[in-house]
Amino acid sequence: MADQKKLLRALAGETQAIPPIWMMRQAGRYLPEYRATRAQAGDFLSLCYNPELAAEVTLQPIRRYGFDAAILFADILLVPQALGADLWFVTGEGPRLSTMTTQADFDKFRPVDDIHETLNPIYETVKILSQELPKETTLIGFAGAPWTVATYMIAGRGTKDQGPAHALMQENTALFEALLDRITLATIEYLSKQIEAGAEVVKIFDSWAGSLKGDAFEKYALEPCRQITAALKIRHPHVPVIGFPREAGEKYVGFAKATGVDCVALDNSVDPEWAAQHVQVDGCVQGNLASRHMVSGGQELVDDTRRIVRAFGKGAHIFNLGHGITPDADPDNVQLMIDTVRETTASAS
Ligand code: CP3
Repeated sequence: MADQKKLLRALAGETQAIPPIWMMRQAGRYLPEYRATRAQAGDFLSLCYNPELAAEVTLQPIRRYGFDAAILFADILLVPQALGADLWFVTGEGPRLSTMTTQADFDKFRPVDDIHETLNPIYETVKILSQELPKETTLIGFAGAPWTVATYMIAGRGTKDQGPAHALMQENTALFEALLDRITLATIEYLSKQIEAGAEVVKIFDSWAGSLKGDAFEKYALEPCRQITAALKIRHPHVPVIGFPREAGEKYVGFAKATGVDCVALDNSVDPEWAAQHVQVDGCVQGNLASRHMVSGGQELVDDTRRIVRAFGKGAHIFNLGHGITPDADPDNVQLMIDTVRETTASAS
């Protein structure tokens, strides 16, 4: 095991004196080199579909900080686009898609087998990265979870409370479930191709899992994640899966066992001491420093970082933020976080 990459060792359940580190949205607008490459590409989607430039921005934070993992540069909304939804980004506002509210809208979508036509450049990015990354760096592929992706497809944009998706769930359950199934199948094929191209780990982002309560959480967050993980494990048994049912609260408990994921990523509303006791007992956890510290820095960043490293220090842990780093973050604070993680463990052991 000793010659394995740090991230893969954590995912295999190994406790390490210094946990592996990476950061959600580590390739992003807080970095001047990202902004320069993005300007070269034109808009955000052109960057996602340009394998050379997408690989370049993926590598930038690795060169700058030496993170233990690189995450493929792409977006969860490329899957709806590949299924036939229109997708564009409004500067300063976020994504826009054609809405999906009727059977007629659904019937226009392409079959799952056709998604690769659109997504081929993404697999090309993965191939480039698997050749260019340093040998100690793990390459993470990803996709959005069906529920989160569906919330954008139904509303045609990001929504605060996912109201339109909840409404469709109530008013036309069959159509809602047909959409979730289509996304689930597309996600299995998309992640399989990423793995075949060289992704060593995959992560499923369910950013809006927290708005599913009671049975709805089991049916629409847990079950699709279980199906995707099970299908991937049949085809690629050795590729670890990270699940991120963001803001799942108490539902984080038992999530790994119920879905088969190798690691659960925690958002920063979760108390690390509580999670060490109730979630980490089942295996590796990832998280969960608040991304606001990347803006404010200082002693608070140091204190919270130490608290998280210590709380999870007795088990398998991947250090990360609780959500993506924001464009107003200071790149020096990222270095301070990394230095603190590595020093805390050294002084504690
Ligand atoms: O983590 C990474 O660095 C990998 C790449 C990645 C992006 N988006 C790049 C991106 C990943 C894993 C995502 C996931 C994603 N995308 C999620 C789930 C995680 C989360 O943040 O909750 C969601 C909900 C999306 C959809 C999305 N993409 C939104 C809502 C936005 C607009 C908000 C914003 O930050 O501008 C995006 C755009 C986006 N995706 C950017 C990046 C780097 C910013 C685009 C730019 O350069 O302007």
